[in-house]
Amino acid sequence: MKLISIAKPGSFDRLRLVDAPEPKPAPGEVRVNVRAVGVNFADVVIRLGLYESAKKYVGWPITPGFEVSGEVAELGEGVTDLQVGERVFGVTRFGGYASQVCAPRSQLFRVPAALSHAQAAAFPTVHLTAYYALREVLRTRPGQKVLVHSAAGGVGLAAMQLARADGLQAIGIIGSSHKRDVALEYGAAHVIDKSTQALWPEVERLAPGGLHYVLESNGAETLKQSYRHLRPTGRLVIYGFTSMLSRGRGRPNWLKMAREFLRIPRFHPLEMVDANKGVIAFNLSYLFEEQGMLAESMTRMLGELESGVLKPLPVSEFPLSEAGEAHRALQSGATVGKLVLVP
Ligand SMILES: NC(=O)c1ccc[n+]([C@@H]2O[C@H](COP(=O)([O-])OP(=O)(O)OC[C@H]3O[C@@H](n4cnc5c(N)ncnc54)[C@H](OP(=O)(O)O)[C@@H]3O)[C@@H](O)[C@H]2O)c1
Repeated sequence: MKLISIAKPGSFDRLRLVDAPEPKPAPGEVRVNVRAVGVNFADVVIRLGLYESAKKYVGWPITPGFEVSGEVAELGEGVTDLQVGERVFGVTRFGGYASQVCAPRSQLFRVPAALSHAQAAAFPTVHLTAYYALREVLRTRPGQKVLVHSAAGGVGLAAMQLARADGLQAIGIIGSSHKRDVALEYGAAHVIDKSTQALWPEVERLAPGGLHYVLESNGAETLKQSYRHLRPTGRLVIYGFTSMLSRGRGRPNWLKMAREFLRIPRFHPLEMVDANKGVIAFNLSYLFEEQGMLAESMTRMLGELESGVLKPLPVSEFPLSEAGEAHRALQSGATVGKLVLVP
């Protein structure tokens, strides 16, 4: 079988396709013959050696990849409710950039008939992220205003459509004009294009009383203003720091990262009580053991997919051997929806 191996941190060329022995499923696991792999921004951070849970759980060399879709190839001991050949998709903690992967049964789900493997592989991570933010961390009510950064990316589009499903008014921020239509199509009530509009004055115009929620994936570039534009009872949910990296660059710019790090605001509990605002941050890769939550979230969203409330995200496909090109595209900051690798 083939997999992408990163021997040490670095640029796009560190993603090397190598041969590896076929993995054996442990008890409770399933070996999947992978047909498509979702690419996430976190995979870039892993490649750069900056992802804490990758260091904690794997080290080097590492095969990135949080989500796959494929067919059941082999059942580990104790797995009795799937058949060899069935189409399954789900989340893995790393290891997904491969033609075969073993994953716990609890992290796999049957692929809905209407979805291709590419659409299925593109679904779990970004939707679970948006779901966790909007439906676990927050207690939203219809009509409330939520601001979402990078609204036309993977997590952004997932958040747009979950927000629409829950009756929220989503204000989607995009970094370039070609992303506007897709953000609107997936549920943005308003779109702010940072390349042509002044971001915060526009937010103030659209939410004069302040925002109920902000989903923050940008980092220092916007964190302070995101918090400032919350209304009392507002919540800032932080799950990414994309702008700490330099667009298009395969290697980190350490000076920029240090500057951005120093610009990250420190939230003071006394001030937060006074302002009546909340801040919460999370990392999905630590949540995969939460089997009840994972099953509940996926079951609900699969129902919403079936009823048409949610739809698959737009995907761009790359051969697995060109994983480096997929990372280059994602780091350009110009992509829309999800990128998927095809073994
Ligand atoms: N904590 C978690 O559990 C978790 C899980 C999934 C994802 N995330 C985070 O959520 C964010 C979105 O992830 P994604 O996989 O869906 O990616 P994505 O949104 O599809 O792509 C990243 C987007 O970020 C913006 N961007 C800003 N600065 C950038 C830079 N220096 N280089 C490249 N892009 C830049 C660009 O959009 P605009 O220019 O339009 O803003 C770009 O399209 C990332 O920060 C990721 O780390 C966190």
